Order: sequence, then structure tokens, then C-alpha cells
Amino acid sequence: MAFSIALSGKGGTGKTTTAGLLIKYLTATGRSPVLAVDADCNANLNEVLGLSFSDTLGGSREEMKKGDVPSGMTKDVFMEMKLEQAIVEADGFDLVVMGQPEGPGCYCAANTLLTSFLERLTGNYPYVVIDNEAGMEHISRLTTKDVDVMLIVSDTSRRGIQAALRINELARELNIGVGKSYLIINQVKEALSEAVLNMIAASGLELAGTIPEDETVYEFDLNGRPTIEMPPDSPAVVQAYRIFEKIIG
Ligand SMILES: Nc1ncnc2c1ncn2[C@@H]1O[C@H](COP(=O)(O)OP(=O)(O)OP(=O)(O)O)[C@@H](O)[C@H]1O
Ligand SMILES: [Mg+2]
Repeated sequence: MAFSIALSGKGGTGKTTTAGLLIKYLTATGRSPVLAVDADCNANLNEVLGLSFSDTLGGSREEMKKGDVPSGMTKDVFMEMKLEQAIVEADGFDLVVMGQPEGPGCYCAANTLLTSFLERLTGNYPYVVIDNEAGMEHISRLTTKDVDVMLIVSDTSRRGIQAALRINELARELNIGVGKSYLIINQVKEALSEAVLNMIAASGLELAGTIPEDETVYEFDLNGRPTIEMPPDSPAVVQAYRIFEKIIG
């Protein structure tokens, strides 16, 4: 069974960057192959990983719903083939992009096929990393259900951390089956204030660690260079690896 780690948090806190660094860590420490799942419909995990994609699982579902099935093929076989095509293979990891989510209240056959495909797919990998869209309301039950670890990424602001704590509470209330949640504070410029540390301690959400603001992360992003190609001695990579070592080993 795959060990699954989902990233969540409010917008722009560094979920995708952290997901990329986690995938780098897992492959560097011999945990390959890793399945990277981009569950943000504004998909950009591929950029952090230095990959391009053309198909999404959601796109395959929509195609099947339209019914453009080649003659001599059953719908199920066609859908399976389309979903299979959406897997991008890379060195040490594969990527699938979820694409547009299913509309509310629709439990059509195509979506059922997608769900079972994703379940089977994740079973093929020792580690699965899921990058989610910002905010809890977007936490997809399809991809965040029954994860071993949820990493909630926050900035250093009081409001940012409050948002992270709310996400943690909501995940518990929604009963989506998260084994353990951790808080990661990213883009840290100076030591966390006493008030913030107290707030975190009172919440019961474990602080896994902090990742410093790192010019290299920003520069790579600006120049369209994949985050996973960052030098291993960059402060953000060093700190992120320390956190992952603590959590995953
Ligand atoms: N430790 C860091 N140091 C410097 N810049 C960073 C750091 N972490 C992330 N960034 C930058 O912050 C921006 C947002 O990061 P990222 O896309 O990872 O956030 P996100 O939470 O996935 O955003 P969204 O909610 O839009 O999906 C990017 O430009 C990224 O390069
Ligand atoms: Mg993102």
C-alpha cells in the first residue's frame, strides 16, 4: 500500500514548491517510484518538476462522457486507455494531473471509472504526493481521502496560521481520514513570534518545521527552471529535507 502525503494550505503559501521538494527528497532517498498527483485544476506542479503534460484525468472523463468511443472498443476499455495516457513518466517518479473536477452531485459512470483507476494507480507506487488547490473547500475528497500525512503549509502571518489551523480542524470534521497532520511554515524571514508559537501549541497541530525564504526558489520560478533542480545546499532544500526526514525517515 502506498504511503500518501497531501499538501494543503491557503493560496500562495508554497504547497506546490513543497510538494516538488518532497518528490525530490523521496526519489533522492531511494523511495522511487513516486506518484505525483496534481489535484489543483490550475495545474502547475509539472513546472516545479520540469515536465509538460497534455492530458488530464478529468479531460479523459469528459471525453468519455461525450461518447467518442472508437468502434470495436467498449467504453470502459477506452476510458482506461485514455486515463493511462494521462500518466507522464519521469526519472524516479510519474505525474498525473486531475484537471477539472466533476460537477457537484454527479456520480456518473465515467467518474466511477476515474475513481477506481486512481485507486488502482496509487496502489502501484510506494509513495504518493498530492498537491492540492488552495483552501479547504477545494480539498478534493477524491484525492485527499485516506491520506497518511497531510502537510499544511502556511506563511508566517498570524492570519495565515489561523487559516492553516482551520484547515486542520475542517479536515478532522469532514472525516476524510487523515492519519496525521503537520504544519510547515514557509518563506520564513525571522524567528517566529512567541504569540504565533503559543497559538500553534494551543491548537494541537504539530509544527513539523520551518522553511526559510530562499532567493533561489524565487529565482528558479522566475526563470522557469524546475524547483527540483535546485542545488541541494540551498537553504530551503536543506530545511525541507530536515522536515521530511523527521516525518518520513
Ligand atoms: N521558501 C521560499 N522562498 C522563496 N520563495 C518561495 C518559497 N516557497 C515558495 N516560494 C515562491 O512563492 C510562490 C508561491 O509558491 P507556490 O506556487 O509553491 O505556492 P502554492 O501554495 O502552491 O500556490 P497556489 O495556492 O497558487 O497553488 C512562488 O513564486 C514560489 O517560487
Ligand atoms: Mg500550488
